[in-house]
Amino acid sequence: MHRKVTKAIFPVAGMGTRFLPATKSVPKEIMTLVDRPLVQYAIDEARAAGIKEFIFVTSRGKGALEDYFDNAPQLEQTLREKGKTELLDILKSTNMDSGEIAYMRQHKPLGLGHAVWCARRLIGNEPFAVILPDDVIAAETPCLQQMVEAFNENPGNIVAAMEVPDDKASSYGILDIKDDMGDLVSTKGMVEKPAPGTAPSNLAVIGRYILTPTVLEMLNKKQVGAGGEIQLTDAIDGARSTGEEVYGFRFKGHRYDCGSKAGFLQATVAFALARDDLRDDLRDFLYAVVEADKAAR
Ligand code: G1P
Repeated sequence: MHRKVTKAIFPVAGMGTRFLPATKSVPKEIMTLVDRPLVQYAIDEARAAGIKEFIFVTSRGKGALEDYFDNAPQLEQTLREKGKTELLDILKSTNMDSGEIAYMRQHKPLGLGHAVWCARRLIGNEPFAVILPDDVIAAETPCLQQMVEAFNENPGNIVAAMEVPDDKASSYGILDIKDDMGDLVSTKGMVEKPAPGTAPSNLAVIGRYILTPTVLEMLNKKQVGAGGEIQLTDAIDGARSTGEEVYGFRFKGHRYDCGSKAGFLQATVAFALARDDLRDDLRDFLYAVVEADKAAR
């Protein structure tokens, strides 16, 4: 029986330049969809998939992330005194047990592969998950949980995958498909950000991975790839070339690209509409805004 996936890496070292000036002082991962930071969605998804150890790869200026997952004795005391038990419950999901969470600095921005490699000593010789908090996935069964279930049936490397339009393929890691089995596809290659017109398929990698320790060995080579960065995609494909399987997994759910402003706004609206306390007012407001916009055209 293969080992269970109990550790997840959250690469959060990026500078978030697409959200300047906000990200000048607020880490992008702390930006909120409705009232929860992006990173909270990632943590909740990891927990649902059975993850027990959470490893953040950070950089300078990400102190607010560490504070977010820390206890807040003064705030909790005030809420207790005021009898605000509901808010105390909400805060519980942000608290981590001692030793459950670790922070590792990526000292230089050398790429996603390098960020994952920075956590190698905390992973050791077992399969692990990687979650990119920018990719927020709304799903009945959380995406990583779907992938862990697929991994238990098909041990190997598994990357979340989704069809993208031709003109968007060069923004993603793209799979070269060997066998298409429906939810799962086996691969014979993977290309990071292919030049326009050269993508081997339309099946793009989305930010959820279950990987074997062989990928960390591949990252040891520090091979530089697309954009002059050490790419996770290349290391995963390197593991395939040693004889391991690399599967793409078509998850069930809707992915929001919260690394872009448009995606972030869409996620905000969708998550607010999913909330009982916000839906009705927001829907009326949106209809009115759309009508006014139509009339103005
Ligand atoms: C990263 C990965 C890419 C993947 C994408 C998904 O790219 O390198 O393979 O398709 O995430 O969001 P980034 O968006 O960080 O440039």
